[in-house]
Amino acid sequence: MSEEHLVTLISEEQIRRRIAELATEIRDDLGNGVITCIGLLKGSFIFLSDLVRAMGGPLRCEFLDVVAYHGGTRSSGAVRITADLRHPIEGQDCLLVVDVIDTARTVAYLKRLLEVRSPRSMKVCTLLDKPSGHETPLEIAYKGFTIADNFVVGYGLDLNEIYRNLPYIATYSP
Ligand code: IMP
Ligand code: MG
Repeated sequence: MSEEHLVTLISEEQIRRRIAELATEIRDDLGNGVITCIGLLKGSFIFLSDLVRAMGGPLRCEFLDVVAYHGGTRSSGAVRITADLRHPIEGQDCLLVVDVIDTARTVAYLKRLLEVRSPRSMKVCTLLDKPSGHETPLEIAYKGFTIADNFVVGYGLDLNEIYRNLPYIATYSP
């Protein structure tokens, strides 16, 4: 894993502190009842695992895996679910946990799709947000960091499946 193209953007310590704040914010809003945390694979797996430990209290972990209908670096939003939730979410307070929101199309589409299942609430929690990339309106309840429109890797985010295991977030410049 060559690291010569990587420049640290957000350190491990910054991530840890921000996740602690997000966890407190989420529990303050949703209370100490059961929260269904839905991780969007693969990018959210590290964020989700740190977030749920910081949140504490009763919660469920579910996962959703999707593939975009069309390849490329940016999404059209149309996705096919390749691994659905294991259980119904009707009547539950849900948190859709994602790594990064760029065009916002993927998450906007999935949020609508999940809302059809009648959860009590469905809020979006993203580690990173790239507001300049948004192409569709999306309400983001919890946001770790706002970043510029650069390609980043690490802490779950990949470049061709590599770099997910970096413990920090880095910009990648070839
Ligand atoms: P969008 O918001 O529908 O454009 O989709 C966001 C998805 O694009 C994320 O879940 C990532 O898979 C991917 N993505 C967007 N920006 C980056 C980045 O900077 N690094 C790695 N993946 C990214
Ligand atoms: Mg990716």
